[in-house]
Amino acid sequence: MSTMVAIDGVIHDERSAKISVFDRGFLYGDSVYEVIRTYSGVPFALDEHLDRLKRSADLLGIALPMDRDGLAGEVQATLAAAGNAESYIRVVVTRGSGPIGLDPALAASPCRVVVVAELHGHPAELYERGAAIRLIAAGRVAEGAVPLSAKSGNYLVNLMAVGQAKRQGAHEAVLVDAAGRVTEGASSNVFIVTRGALHTPPLSAGILEGITRRKLMALARDNGLSVEERELRPEELRGADEVLITGTLREVMPVTRVDDQLIGDGNPGPVTRRMQDLFRALTGAAR
Ligand code: PDD
Repeated sequence: MSTMVAIDGVIHDERSAKISVFDRGFLYGDSVYEVIRTYSGVPFALDEHLDRLKRSADLLGIALPMDRDGLAGEVQATLAAAGNAESYIRVVVTRGSGPIGLDPALAASPCRVVVVAELHGHPAELYERGAAIRLIAAGRVAEGAVPLSAKSGNYLVNLMAVGQAKRQGAHEAVLVDAAGRVTEGASSNVFIVTRGALHTPPLSAGILEGITRRKLMALARDNGLSVEERELRPEELRGADEVLITGTLREVMPVTRVDDQLIGDGNPGPVTRRMQDLFRALTGAAR
C-alpha cells in the first residue's frame, strides 16, 4: 500500500514528489482537478472525470497538456506503481509556473499531477445512522469572475465552510447562496426526498455537475422514481422526508440531521436506502 505521484509523466514516491513554489496552483489555486476512486482496482467513470477536467480547463483557459487517453494512461501507470487494493486518484492540472503576477498569460506550460493513494472511505456509521450537515451562507465564488461549473483548485470558500460545519459537529457543509438558495455541499451534491420523489438543485444554481449526481439521477429514473431539478430553500431541506448527499468518495450518504433539525424519524429513509443499494449494484462495491 503506497502513495505514488506522477508529475508531468514521471512517477515519484510520496517524498520525492515536488513542484515549484512558482507554480500558479500553489500561488493562486490556478488549477483544475478531479477526484476519482477505484472499485476492484478499476477507476470508476474515468472517462467522465477526464471529460469534466477538460471542460473545467476550457472554462479557465488552461490548455490540457495531453488528451484524454494520454491522461488515462498516466492514471493507469500511477495506479500500477502504487499497487493498492483500492485507490483514491487525484488528477490536477495547473496553469504552470512563471514570473509571479496575476496575469494568466505569465505561465505558458501547464503542469500535470496524478496522485494515487490508498483509499480511505468514510466511517460506516455515517451510512448506517446518517450524517449531519450544516447549512452555511456562502456564495461559492463570485459568479461571473469564475465559472461555477469548473472544478478549479480554488476551494477556499468550501474549505472554510467545512471548518465551520465541523466545529458545529456536522460532517459536511451545504452552501446557501446570496439569494438564499441551497446550492451544493462543499464537496458533494445534495438531494431531498418529498412524497417519494427526489429533488435536487439545477445546474443553473451554480453547482458542480457531480458525476455521482448524474449517475444517481439516471438510476432513479430507470427504476421508476421521479427526479426533479429545481431551486431548493433551506426550510425545504429541514422539512424534507429524507436528505442525502452524493460524491465520488461519499457515494450515496444519508443525512439525518440538517442544522439542529432531525430529518424524518432521524433514521435513513427508504428512498435513500434504495438509492444506496442501486448505486452499490452499479459500482459492484461490496461494503
Ligand atoms: N468533490 N460539488 C463539489 C463542490 C465537489 O467538490 C464535488 C466532488 C461534488 C461531487 O462530484 P462527484 O460526484 O463528481 O464527485 C459536488 C470531490 C470528491 C473532492 O473534491 O474531493
